[in-house]
Amino acid sequence: MDKQADYGTPASRTTEQQVTLEIDGKQITVAKGTSIMRAAMEAGVSIPKLCATDSLEPFGSCRLCLVEIEGRRGYPASCTTPVDEGLKVRTQTAKLADIRRGVMELYISDHPLDCLTCSANGDCELQDMAGAVGLREVRYGYEGENHLAAPKDISNPYFQFDASKCIVCSRCVRACEETQGTFALTIQGRGFDSKVAAGNFDNFLDSECVSCGACVAACPTATLIEKTVVEHGQPEHSVVTTCAYCGVGCSFRAEMKGEQVVRMVPDKNGGANHGHSCVKGRFAWGYATHRDRITTPMIRKHISDPWQEVSWEEAISYAASELKRIQGKHGRNSIGAITSSRCTNEETYLVQKLVRAAFGNNNVDTCARVCHSPTGYGLKQTLGESAGTQTFDSIMKSDVIMVIGANPTDGHPVFGSQMKRRLRQGAKLIIADPRAIDLVSSPHVQADYHLKLRPGTNVALITAMAHVVVTEGLVDEAFIRERCEWDSYQYWSEFVAQPENSPEALQEATGVSAADIRAAARLFATGGNAAIYYGLGVTEHSQGSTMVMGIANLAMATGNIGREGVGVNPLRGQNNVQGSCDMGSFPHEFPGYRHVSDDATRALFEAAWGRPLDNEPGLRIPNMLDFAIDGSFKALYCEGEDIAQSDPNTQHVTHALSSMECVIVQDLFLNETAMYAHVFLPGCSFLEKSGTFTNAERRISPVRRVMTPKNGYEDWQITAMLSEALGYPMPYQHASEIMDEIARLTPTFHGVSFKKLEEMGSIQWPCNEDHPDGTPIMHVDEFVRGKGRFMITEYVPTSEKVNNKYPLILTTGRILSHYNVGAQTRRTDNVAWHPEDVVEIHPQDAEDRGIKDGDWVGVTSRAGNTVLRAKITERVQPGVIYTTFHHPESGANVITTDNSDWATNCPEFKVTAVQVTRVSQLSEWQRNYQEFSSDQIALVQQRDTARVE
Ligand code: SF4
Ligand code: SF4
Ligand code: SF4
Ligand code: FES
Repeated sequence: MDKQADYGTPASRTTEQQVTLEIDGKQITVAKGTSIMRAAMEAGVSIPKLCATDSLEPFGSCRLCLVEIEGRRGYPASCTTPVDEGLKVRTQTAKLADIRRGVMELYISDHPLDCLTCSANGDCELQDMAGAVGLREVRYGYEGENHLAAPKDISNPYFQFDASKCIVCSRCVRACEETQGTFALTIQGRGFDSKVAAGNFDNFLDSECVSCGACVAACPTATLIEKTVVEHGQPEHSVVTTCAYCGVGCSFRAEMKGEQVVRMVPDKNGGANHGHSCVKGRFAWGYATHRDRITTPMIRKHISDPWQEVSWEEAISYAASELKRIQGKHGRNSIGAITSSRCTNEETYLVQKLVRAAFGNNNVDTCARVCHSPTGYGLKQTLGESAGTQTFDSIMKSDVIMVIGANPTDGHPVFGSQMKRRLRQGAKLIIADPRAIDLVSSPHVQADYHLKLRPGTNVALITAMAHVVVTEGLVDEAFIRERCEWDSYQYWSEFVAQPENSPEALQEATGVSAADIRAAARLFATGGNAAIYYGLGVTEHSQGSTMVMGIANLAMATGNIGREGVGVNPLRGQNNVQGSCDMGSFPHEFPGYRHVSDDATRALFEAAWGRPLDNEPGLRIPNMLDFAIDGSFKALYCEGEDIAQSDPNTQHVTHALSSMECVIVQDLFLNETAMYAHVFLPGCSFLEKSGTFTNAERRISPVRRVMTPKNGYEDWQITAMLSEALGYPMPYQHASEIMDEIARLTPTFHGVSFKKLEEMGSIQWPCNEDHPDGTPIMHVDEFVRGKGRFMITEYVPTSEKVNNKYPLILTTGRILSHYNVGAQTRRTDNVAWHPEDVVEIHPQDAEDRGIKDGDWVGVTSRAGNTVLRAKITERVQPGVIYTTFHHPESGANVITTDNSDWATNCPEFKVTAVQVTRVSQLSEWQRNYQEFSSDQIALVQQRDTARVE
């Protein structure tokens, strides 16, 4: 199997100045600051090395890479010696060979020589180096003092640490510090007694380690190695593909043995991750072959009936006949579809095409409705394009980083690591969050300001910051005059300058002192390049869209947009939130954010699709659910989404689902929504399909099929079969043809194709005639809408109020080891870190209620109640509690209400008034849920192949 080249040290950061030198008689020109080792590698001369690797700064400890330099004394290490003009370097001399053999002899004399049975056999740098230096004997013998009996730590579910094989090169320790930024590992002891340790902990699992795998990737021996490699042996081929979890969009090499994934190795060429990963993408892929997967289609008449396994033809024709029957009886608008940000662009595109062309309405929506729909609205209004403005790498040029309502180290871990790297270099940090996320204080990172605001008061905070910027003369007037609508600025600046928008007037509402708001605003406006990164803590509010506009206003007013290091950056939760929005999965927009009422756009799609298209926006998810309960919405095709767990007010959602006559679910597992389904179409995992995902920086990356779909079809093929059965054939032969159609019909995608992705690896849209290689930074010379527009952001407190009955505010979020509804990660060993959802409560609130750590507590809101285990922590402020929603039985969304954003209906997940009390038994909803879900699981287990008449 081809290996990724290792140049020994990172590329030089200075590219302007070139230096020419001679290595082994070859003239080489490289950037100033390049190491001799790297210069040699770039010229095809490899120098033996052990402690160096190109993902880490050089360390110079192993002394294997020594070279001779004409005119210089001694034998400098080539990894730590930079090139210089005119140097004459020799990498192979008799003396060097002697020294290197001596070094290797010392290593090998304390190493178990079990190469033939070692899991790293064939992929071990120590073994390679022994060969490279020509080691033939070890004079010291193996009888003396050694580490050969050192114990093995197998506590981590995914990798093991075999201390007997450790050569103490420190690559793992440095990877944990430099690449991941967790600082979980240390070298304990000195000299011969030196050993790697997981900090002060006994083993990796109990330590600070977040299981990102950076140390495993960096280890040159079998000391730190994936358990799957131990089990399956070395892989024999690899395919580059894209992680299917979060919106970072890491690129991985799926290293395979036939159809067996042996390991996922982060790709050094990945534009979003540069060879780094987190525990999910790196290790949590086993769900694809989990025994719970359903791979044969099933149908049933009623949700109380056992499922019947049927052929694909029968399932598709039954689904189509039900959809036709229902439309015939209840009208064209009685059916619709929901697509998911877990789907590829091509799949999502086909679902909205199916709805618009074959269903004949616009009733299509996506899970972005419940996460980033306010981003779409807010950024379109102000900047003109519904997308983040930067590349992730842009952060390395930021001087001030403001994180609002996002938790990058848990939600977007690889980008979180990059952010920490920039912070360790000295960038300033402002965090606006009700809760103390890890970034507030972690090793070598300390927030300059943690604005610990009350949930629901974002708009008051951003307007108060704008007040400071405007009234203290900190705006960038030249930028505003040149780039923005001056009238809208004047109107806005008068508004924010009003005394009622001052930090002093709003400090009571926000709970943040006026002094802190003023200081943070000054830092943001005057600290150099300032960038804003935000998440669902911004969007999932009744004023989510207003807050997005407030963020854009602040960036424009301070001139922080249109170049590297600045910008407005929504951190997208799921892998393809950006893409699913781009692909026209909202009921009012065609692909490329063009309104369905726009005659020219509709004519374009009508001509391409050969069907008349509706000019009225269709139903959003909440409308579909309401109309289902009212009786006018009767059938739903739901691909890859689990609304019964992910959407707010679970009881309302399940009532709606059980009111429909036909629910068609396409998924890997019998998820919560599928328990209310009449047709189950087995989906396939990202490992079994071709397509593309678009990450939070608009980067379109290829998803490549590495194994045969266990269900028989890729997901886009299933949608196409359903469409054909409805009388609207979609004769694509491959996902690439769908992308060709998207590119033809969408101006921002005109230049995108699978061929171009092969050539470039990934592309950031817009990619068209004007930007043939894509667009890393947006709005450089002008905004997409021409001039930037300031929008008024009046603070309107949420109607979800605390009172005596519901005195606390519940806010929700996610955790590193799990992904969204947890359907995938709960079916992996990630449960080792987070086996259940818990509710975080401040010690004072706990004491007032007699609650101790680990007690069961009932959490009751106006919508419902559930029972969770309490975790007492000062991470949350008094008056606020926090939980995650990764386990269905937790019922976090039983409590959340159906309050929503005024512009987009994005649910107000982040603010629910609740009461918390100690209890001794599960809630009524949980007891009913347990009964219902075990009945449904039994109905699947009892499935037979008889036909449904
Ligand atoms: S565990 Fe691996 S990377 Fe770490 S010091 Fe030992 S050999 Fe080097
Ligand atoms: S897996 Fe990641 S966090 Fe854990 S020790 Fe290795 S580098 Fe550090
Ligand atoms: S979950 Fe996100 S950060 Fe982790 S590997 Fe996948 S894309 Fe990267
Ligand atoms: S590789 Fe240069 S000293 Fe180890």
